[in-house]
Amino acid sequence: MKRTKIFKLLESDSPVDHILIKGWVRTRRDSKGFSFIEVNDGSCLTNMQVIADHGLDNYDDILKLSTGSAVAVTGKLLASKGKGQKWEIQADDIEIISIAPGSYPLQKKRHSDEFLRTIAHLRPRTNKYGAAFRIRSELSYAIHKFFRERAFTYIHTPIVTASDCEGAGEMFRVTALDPDNLPKTDGAVDYSLDFFGKQANLTVSGQLEAELFALALGDVYTFGPTFRAENSNTRRHAAEFWMVEPEMAFCDLEGDMDLGEEMVKYLVTYAIDTCRDDLELFAKFVDKGLMATLENIASSDFIRLPYREAVDILSRAKDKFDYDVGFGKDLQSEHEHYLTEQHFKGPVIVYDYPSTIKPFYMRVNPDGETVTAMDVLVPSIGEIIGGSQREERLDILEARMDEAGLLKDNYWWYMDSRRFGGVPHSGFGLGFERLVMLITGISNIRDVIPFPRTPNSIEF
Ligand code: 4AD
Ligand code: MG
Repeated sequence: MKRTKIFKLLESDSPVDHILIKGWVRTRRDSKGFSFIEVNDGSCLTNMQVIADHGLDNYDDILKLSTGSAVAVTGKLLASKGKGQKWEIQADDIEIISIAPGSYPLQKKRHSDEFLRTIAHLRPRTNKYGAAFRIRSELSYAIHKFFRERAFTYIHTPIVTASDCEGAGEMFRVTALDPDNLPKTDGAVDYSLDFFGKQANLTVSGQLEAELFALALGDVYTFGPTFRAENSNTRRHAAEFWMVEPEMAFCDLEGDMDLGEEMVKYLVTYAIDTCRDDLELFAKFVDKGLMATLENIASSDFIRLPYREAVDILSRAKDKFDYDVGFGKDLQSEHEHYLTEQHFKGPVIVYDYPSTIKPFYMRVNPDGETVTAMDVLVPSIGEIIGGSQREERLDILEARMDEAGLLKDNYWWYMDSRRFGGVPHSGFGLGFERLVMLITGISNIRDVIPFPRTPNSIEF
C-alpha cells in the first residue's frame, strides 16, 4: 500500500478505512489498555495521533517507542474523540522502522536557536525549522509563479564567472591550481595556466548576464545562489545566499520600483494565503506582531523617497546613531530601521543615491551626482531589494568603469550590449533569505538557510 502524507489526511472530509502513514514519533503517552503516539511526517506542522491498542502483537515493542523513532502505521482514519485534533488513526499494525536512543539530541523541549545551529543536520526535525523550510519552499515556487504570470523568461546565469558585478572585490576565487605550487611569472601568479586561462570566481550577482538576455528576450529573471566573501558577521549577511534578479528591457527606474513593490506584496500575500498553519507557529512563538506586519506590507503603498530626503529625515531624527548621516554616506542598517520602523512605519523605497557609493552599471542622473539606484527597505529586515536603471550610454558607462578601476577588457561583451541595440533597462536583486526572514519573523539569516555559510562556519 502507498503511504499517504499527513497533510492530505487532515484535509479528508470523511473517515477512511485503510490507510498507511510513515513518520517519526514526537511523543508517546501510555494509558490503560492503549498508547497515544504523536507521529509527524514532515509534510505539515500537525502531528497525527495514533492509537495503539495493547492487543497489538508487538505492543511490548511499541512501549519502547521514543522521541525520534520511525514507524509505519496502517489503520483507520477516524474522527478524533480527543480535543486538539480532528482526525486520529486507530492502528491495525505498527511497524517499528527504527528506535532512537535516549541520547537523541532533540528531546521534547524548546531548544535555543544557537544550540540548534550546532546540530543543523537534525534541526529540520523540529516544528520551527520544519515550518521555516516548508515556507522557504513555498516562496521559491511563488517566485516562479509571479514571473510566469507576467511572461518573464527564467535564465540560468553562470555560477562561475570572470567578472565582478558589484565591483566590491568580495569574491571567492575558483581555481584548479595547486596552492602549494603556484605557477608564477615575474612573482605574480600566472592565471593563464589555470583551468579557465584567467582568474575566475564565484558570482556575486547574475545581473550582468541577465542584462544581456533582457536585451534579447525583453523580461527575464534569474533565481540562484550567489556568493560574497564579505567578512560581515551580522544577522542578515551570509557568504552564500540566493538572489532573485529580474531584468526588464524598455523599463525605467519607476517601472523597476513598481515591480519590486508588486513582487514583495505578492510574495507576502502568497505566504499568508498558503502557509497559514506554519505561519501561525511563528506568530505565536517568534514574533507576536508578525501577521499585522505582513498584512501591513501587503496592503500599504510603499513610500518612495529620494536619498537626499532620507538623509534630511535622518539628520533631524532625535535618535542617536552610531554612524553619521550625510550626502555621500551609505545608509546603515540602524538608519534603515529608523525609516521603516519609527518614521514611516512601513516599507520605504529610497532612490537616487550618490554615484560614489553605488556600482558602475547604474545610470547617472542629470544632476551628475546621483545614480538611478533604488533600495526597498522593510521593517525589521532593512534592505531587501537593491536595484537600478542601468547605464545604457556607452561613453558614460566607460567613464564609470574607469572611475571604478575595472579592467574594461574583461567586460567587452557587456559594453557590446550597449553598442548593438541598447535600450533603457532596469532590474533589481531581492535577497531570498531576507524575504524568508521577513515572512517568518526569524531574526537571524543562519536560521532560514538549511546549511548556512558564514565566516568560520562550514560544518555541514
Ligand atoms: O544590493 P545588492 O548587492 O545588489 C546586487 O547584487 C545587484 N546586482 C542586483 C541587481 O540589480 N540585479 O544585493 C541585492 C540583495 C540585497 O538587497 C539583499 O537583500 C541581498 O541581495 N543580499 C544579501 N543577502 C544575504 N547575505 C548577503 N551577504 C547579501 N548581500 C546582498
Ligand atoms: Mg544593496
